[in-house]
Amino acid sequence: MKRVTAQSMRDAFGVESASHMRYLIFSGKAAAEQFPNVARLFRALAASGKARATRHYEQASRLLGEYCVNFSTPFFLERTMDNITKAWEACKDAAEEFYPACTAVARSQNELHAAKEFEWFAQVEKNHSDMLRTVLGFIEHAAEEPKIGDLRVCDICGLVIEGKPPEDCPVCEAKSSFLISVE
Ligand SMILES: [Fe+2]
Repeated sequence: MKRVTAQSMRDAFGVESASHMRYLIFSGKAAAEQFPNVARLFRALAASGKARATRHYEQASRLLGEYCVNFSTPFFLERTMDNITKAWEACKDAAEEFYPACTAVARSQNELHAAKEFEWFAQVEKNHSDMLRTVLGFIEHAAEEPKIGDLRVCDICGLVIEGKPPEDCPVCEAKSSFLISVE
């Protein structure tokens, strides 16, 4: 893998690792505030970050050496409504800027496998930002959390899927055995 694409991979590992932990912390806060469905959604988003961080790590580990991982992440912990807003903004940024930029770099270096995966992750982040925007809108109007169906996370691309599971992941086409239930 070319050097600059590999650096994008390491940056993405840092971003997703931090997201994994931040969403677990947000989940604990939501549970404490009696938002069990939102707490479960944050656990699903945490699992998504873990799946993608793992994938980035595996790819980056093919290049030997020790590297500093640079990434920016918000250190933010407020009421659950504000945490959802912050998560929505982070997913939107990842969908519209971070992963498209990673994709463009990989494509310009003819790293087509990496480019395809970065494209998946942009789609996944778009899906998550839409989901969080819907939850925010519901709470703003109803002053209570919405019902959220069964949640599964694709262990390949990290897509969070609500309700009846599809035959294959709609983003990466992984078989349903890769769709992991979130309790
Ligand atoms: Fe997937």
